[in-house]
Amino acid sequence: MSETRKTNHYWSLQAITLMSNNFATPLTQEQSDTFRQLTSSLNEVQLAWMSGYLAAITAQNGNLIPVPVKNEIIEKQGLSPITILYGSRTGNGEGLAKKAQKLALEFGLTTILKNMDDYKPRDLQSEKNLLVIVSTHGEGEPPFAAKELHEFIYGKRASRLENVNFAVLGLGDSSYFQFCKTGKDFDLQLEKLGAKRLANAGCCDVDFQETADQWLKSTLSAFSGLDGNKVTVTSGENIETSVSQKYSKKNPYQAELLEKINLHGRGSERQTLHIELDADLPFEPGDSAGIMPVNTSELVNEVLSITGLIPEDEVEVKNSKMSLFDALKKEFELSKITIDVVKRYLEYAPNEQLAAILQSPEKLQDYLYGRDIADLFSDYPVLLSAQDLVKILRPLQPRLYSIASSPKANPGELHLAVSVVEYENGGRNRRGACSNYLSDFDGNENKIPVFIEKNPNFRLPKNDETPIIMVGAGTGVAPYRAFVQHRELAEKRGKSWLVFGNRNFESEFLYQTDWQKFLKSGALSKMDVAFSRDTEKRVYVQHKLQENAAEIYQWLEDGAHFYICGDMNKMAADVQNTLVSIVKNQGAMSNDSALDYVNKMQKEKRLQLDVY
Ligand SMILES: Cc1cc2nc3c(=O)[nH]c(=O)nc-3n(C[C@H](O)[C@H](O)[C@H](O)COP(=O)(O)OP(=O)(O)OC[C@H]3O[C@@H](n4cnc5c(N)ncnc54)[C@H](O)[C@@H]3O)c2cc1C
Ligand SMILES: Cc1cc2nc3c(=O)[nH]c(=O)nc-3n(C[C@H](O)[C@H](O)[C@H](O)COP(=O)(O)O)c2cc1C
Repeated sequence: MSETRKTNHYWSLQAITLMSNNFATPLTQEQSDTFRQLTSSLNEVQLAWMSGYLAAITAQNGNLIPVPVKNEIIEKQGLSPITILYGSRTGNGEGLAKKAQKLALEFGLTTILKNMDDYKPRDLQSEKNLLVIVSTHGEGEPPFAAKELHEFIYGKRASRLENVNFAVLGLGDSSYFQFCKTGKDFDLQLEKLGAKRLANAGCCDVDFQETADQWLKSTLSAFSGLDGNKVTVTSGENIETSVSQKYSKKNPYQAELLEKINLHGRGSERQTLHIELDADLPFEPGDSAGIMPVNTSELVNEVLSITGLIPEDEVEVKNSKMSLFDALKKEFELSKITIDVVKRYLEYAPNEQLAAILQSPEKLQDYLYGRDIADLFSDYPVLLSAQDLVKILRPLQPRLYSIASSPKANPGELHLAVSVVEYENGGRNRRGACSNYLSDFDGNENKIPVFIEKNPNFRLPKNDETPIIMVGAGTGVAPYRAFVQHRELAEKRGKSWLVFGNRNFESEFLYQTDWQKFLKSGALSKMDVAFSRDTEKRVYVQHKLQENAAEIYQWLEDGAHFYICGDMNKMAADVQNTLVSIVKNQGAMSNDSALDYVNKMQKEKRLQLDVY
């Protein structure tokens, strides 16, 4: 008998002995007798299963404690555990995977929880039962943790998977063009490789809990129907059930505004706000804050006027009644049109032209950019009731902002750098919902609802002495302020290099005085800046990297971690290509070797991205 099994067995027997010796228990005499009778009739495997089952129930009741699981699987004929394989970036998929593991206990199923990040793709062929939970990021790309496995299943080395039963739960956001793309990819490709689909792929939108719960229950029930799969022990990796965050998207912290200043100087047509909130929330440098906005009253009135609806009309939203005005102000997206809204709109207002736009991704992207809900109604008018209007609209979503402060340097506070979205289209001023909610917030009204969105893939190195290179444009510099503040307090620290870009030196040098102070104190060792509009020829961060190619390569060779934060569309790709070209030229390598070098950095978490 292994040590773990011996230990579990020992404690179960101890508990029974204690009870039979009439030690105090919280049970009534009757319960105590029944319990003793039951436990004494169980064999060791049954006892182990029961202890896991009871722990899971306790955890579900809110008192979260570690689920007692074993580190090993008890080999038993016919026993085929389900591998729950998750690929997650911001933790939603990981949370669901852990939930699936707990639920599986209720179905009497054995599970093994695995992060795709630590998974050897070749192990796929030895799986029997596979439950994949994976999100989509970028523009329809797998999260970093899922990248290698995703590539593998499409590659030549992927083996046939005839012996694998599988089901895939995708996480995504229907406002993206490629909704749940990675989940769909896994689902189709596993089937192509011969695996047997046990349940149709689930596809969760941003409010995913309910859909995910239902899907997990029906899918686990399908797994439990398989021969030889019902087992009587718990197993898996030694997970701790996450302690439920006290504050979350559903229950945000109400933060007081401490400070709000415009980081841009005179002459800039744009605004980036530095915002300080009093928020006693646990977070680490690299995490983001989620802020729940409300829409501007101007936009609500614009929508009301175009639809001809009355602000006082009563509507039902999430089982409660409220005025249409309040619903439009607080509950629904108005400042942008998303694909899901266009689809629902067409059900109420069939229109050939709009239907044709929906069919063409380019035309659709073109139409949606810079337009809001008022535009949709004026471009394709239709008469609707107030209730139908809210059925078409998308629930208002929080926006994420990289946290620009270190919790060590500013305990109880949380700083953000928010670029205010303002533009003109069709003769009307347009204002992004959340950045303008923060811009207009005067501190006298209600507090600001905020929660933490963890970002385990954007972290300072564990060793403070490891050098870091931080590349960011615009508000992409925000998390680096947190990084450098944090490192300033470290006893020993490695070198750090910031490469920052924006439009103008004079007016858009975000946190200039902070960087000067950090350079003076030595918390920041080196800084290069690229101000694209100060020179005739546009200069961007990637040009600064190229200018310093030899030194960048030397830092990488010395083990530096390399970070990229900010614009996803152009900057991130340009910087990554530049990195490959630096490695190729400085390391005198072929293009393929340079690509391998950079991929290896990413695999080892020495290259990390936070792009949006
Ligand atoms: C992980 C992460 C971290 C982030 N960190 C930060 C950060 O630190 N700082 C920061 O400022 N933002 C950050 N963002 C972006 C932020 O979450 C919001 O997307 C941003 O503030 C806009 O939100 P909004 O509600 O103001 O605008 P919305 O109401 O969402 O409107 C945005 C829409 O306006 C349209 N639009 C915008 N500009 C123009 C234009 N010039 N012309 C035409 N149409 C336009 C586009 O259709 C766009 O979809 C981050 C995002 C993510 C995912
Ligand atoms: C920067 C960014 C890009 C995203 N891109 C997509 C996308 O292309 N398609 C999609 O369906 N969802 C997209 N999403 C939504 C995520 O898949 C969704 O938030 C999911 O719940 C995240 O799960 P995770 O925390 O397990 O990674 C994106 C989210 C972010 C923050």
